[in-house]
Amino acid sequence: MSPLDAATVLDLRDPAVVADPYPHLAALRAAAPVAHHSGLGTWVATSHAACSQVLRERSLGRIFAPRVPDADWETFNWLHADSILDSEPPKHSRLRRLVQRAFTRGHVARLQPRIAELADGLLDGCVERLDAMGSFDVLADYAEPLPVLVIAELLGWPEADQHLLRPWSQDIVRMYEVNQTPADETAARRACGEFAAYVEGLAAERASHPGADLLSDLVAVRDDGDRLSSHELVATVVLLLNAGHEASVNGFGNGLASYLTSGRTAAEPALLVEEMLRHDSPLHLFERTATSDVVIGDVTVRAGQRISALLGAANRDPAVFDAPDEFRSDRDPNPHLAFGAGIHFCIGAPLARLELQTSVDALLRRFGRLEVVDAVRRPTFVLRGYERLLVAPA
Ligand code: HEM
Repeated sequence: MSPLDAATVLDLRDPAVVADPYPHLAALRAAAPVAHHSGLGTWVATSHAACSQVLRERSLGRIFAPRVPDADWETFNWLHADSILDSEPPKHSRLRRLVQRAFTRGHVARLQPRIAELADGLLDGCVERLDAMGSFDVLADYAEPLPVLVIAELLGWPEADQHLLRPWSQDIVRMYEVNQTPADETAARRACGEFAAYVEGLAAERASHPGADLLSDLVAVRDDGDRLSSHELVATVVLLLNAGHEASVNGFGNGLASYLTSGRTAAEPALLVEEMLRHDSPLHLFERTATSDVVIGDVTVRAGQRISALLGAANRDPAVFDAPDEFRSDRDPNPHLAFGAGIHFCIGAPLARLELQTSVDALLRRFGRLEVVDAVRRPTFVLRGYERLLVAPA
């Protein structure tokens, strides 16, 4: 019997797959938890065990050939070449240690009351929309602005320039999709250049006038024996800003839609949020390259070959989650992989959890039971999210 080509079960460009990938992911997992995908040119892992192994296996690296900045693609590669996400030990350990040190210096805990205050302010706007229109877009009016405000607050980003962040970030992250166009590349290149130039200017200012913010701390660790180079600093800030809101917005929107359509009542915000992240995860595909031959599940990935962990598939694996397609707001334990695993495990997970718990709790307290009135998906597989999610009191 010839081995299964995963592309025959999971065509990532098929609108039906993008709209609801879960039956296709389940079919692939059942047929072959690790299979080669001719469309992607990589192996794909769909079981929890195989995805977990892909993320933890040290002979599978983020990138095999380092990104080389070139005239045509200079800023995008340059930003990514120096990002924690795209580096491997020893560089990764060094960058991660420096960033984590700055990141955990009480910044997340100090934000709690501020997140609640920002959420309340945005909810006042939602009430006005509701009165005027009979529903509101819980993404545009609430979930999208909140993480930007929070990450801007964390970094000490000037208020007047906060409107620049989301368009830059949205243009950059289109490069992570499987079907980007030349127009996407041009937009991403421009956004990278503008974003990097802005961060460099701001970092220079913080070097001479430090504040109590994360950017000042990142500049300070740079001055501390082992330091972030200025490229590394810019790459880190851009990564924090991108990671800091794209995944949070989509995690909120996907999870809220799953919850509201499940008919379940709310449980502990902490449990509810974990189930939101598991049931319809915002990030679906993370790729690694083998630096030597490695056995994943029952296949051998040869040195130089790539393999992708499909996190949405892992998070619906019936071998780990009872009734995986059901949304259970009190599911416990909930060992989902939405934040990854291993050395690249999400640095922002404590912030994302705090932000999601605070914002979901504030929303449900303000409105009680809500229902989805209209939901429009984005046509993307890797960063899974809604374009629009209109809700109204049930
Ligand atoms: C619901 C929200 C979020 C989700 C689902 C999420 C998910 C993830 C995942 C799956 C990874 C691992 C990538 C890999 O293995 O290649 C990751 C890494 C990372 N995340 Fe998050 N993230 C979220 C929010 C955040 C926030 C709020 C921040 C920062 C403010 C952040 C910063 C990072 C960074 C810096 C890394 C790279 C870590 C490393 O490579 O060592 N994330 N995230």
